Amino acid sequence: MATQRKHIIIDTDPGVDDALALILALRSDELQVEAITTVNGNVCLSQCTENALRILEILGLPEPPPVAQGADRPLCREPLSSASIHGRDGLGEISILKDRSGKKKYPSPRLHPTAKYAPELICDLAARHPRGLTIVTLGPLTNIALALTLEPALPRYVKEIVTMGGAYSAPGNVTPAAEFNFFCDPEAAQQVIASGIPITLVGLDVTRIARLSRHSLLNATKKRTRLNQFLQNATAHAMSFYCEREGYHGCSVHDALAMMVAIDSSFVGTKRVHVEVETEGKLTAGMSVADLRPYSRGKAGKPNAAVALYVDPSRFEHFLLDRITDR
Ligand code: BDR
Ligand code: CA
Repeated sequence: MATQRKHIIIDTDPGVDDALALILALRSDELQVEAITTVNGNVCLSQCTENALRILEILGLPEPPPVAQGADRPLCREPLSSASIHGRDGLGEISILKDRSGKKKYPSPRLHPTAKYAPELICDLAARHPRGLTIVTLGPLTNIALALTLEPALPRYVKEIVTMGGAYSAPGNVTPAAEFNFFCDPEAAQQVIASGIPITLVGLDVTRIARLSRHSLLNATKKRTRLNQFLQNATAHAMSFYCEREGYHGCSVHDALAMMVAIDSSFVGTKRVHVEVETEGKLTAGMSVADLRPYSRGKAGKPNAAVALYVDPSRFEHFLLDRITDR
């Protein structure tokens, strides 16, 4: 008997690795993408939305899911950006590329976002699929926190959240203590983790290990298709960044691992622990503090999240390229 597809919402700030995660989700039969919701993060909200629409157009789906815009800033902090890795347009500067005839290689998408506000759409879809909806978050958690405020009963409806965010036994990436998505909006991250919705946290502990090498990508994208071209073009900027910074020929694709976990939880090994996000520290704002001490902390430290701590990098890369490239 065929297994049922998982109904998911993807909350995202595309972002090069978000783009790969979106492509993975939309080419995976295990998932039924009900909506894509966008949030300010890697770049500004309107650019994130344009990028999500562009990815849908490149995939040429007959019935693309709706794209709804959400928060254009964190709950109570100034917006940040990570254009140094993702490029000013969030997709590795592909918007300035031209073809041989001088025309833009990636013109503005023709698809439009829906008029619905993302946090409202999240609440609507949760009500439509009681206990049957998975939310995969690939950016700051602002939209989910806003949805929780709009509908305090949301934890009773949502089946699970899979989140790319945090660093539990590993150092941060924006600061020594904090990972980008949690650092952008620590208040939202804390609210979502404390909400009681079953949550799996896929952080830098595993996404720094499971990466995408340039060599493997080029090998897998030899066939000249629009999608393969896009994958090469969109990752080139990030790959130069990693090469300059770390001497690594490839790039991290954090969000793709979170999506893979939504497809099949066996891609990571997790531990159930108590997690809180620091919202006040001068040096530690956005830090995800996981109680990994090897003895019970009683009621105060009751586990509230499954934290990913182990991954097989070659299984990750193989599965990713198999799903997202045209062979
Ligand atoms: C996260 O930050 C963003 O730059 C990436 O898209 C990913 O979601 C990694 O820290
Ligand atoms: Ca992201």
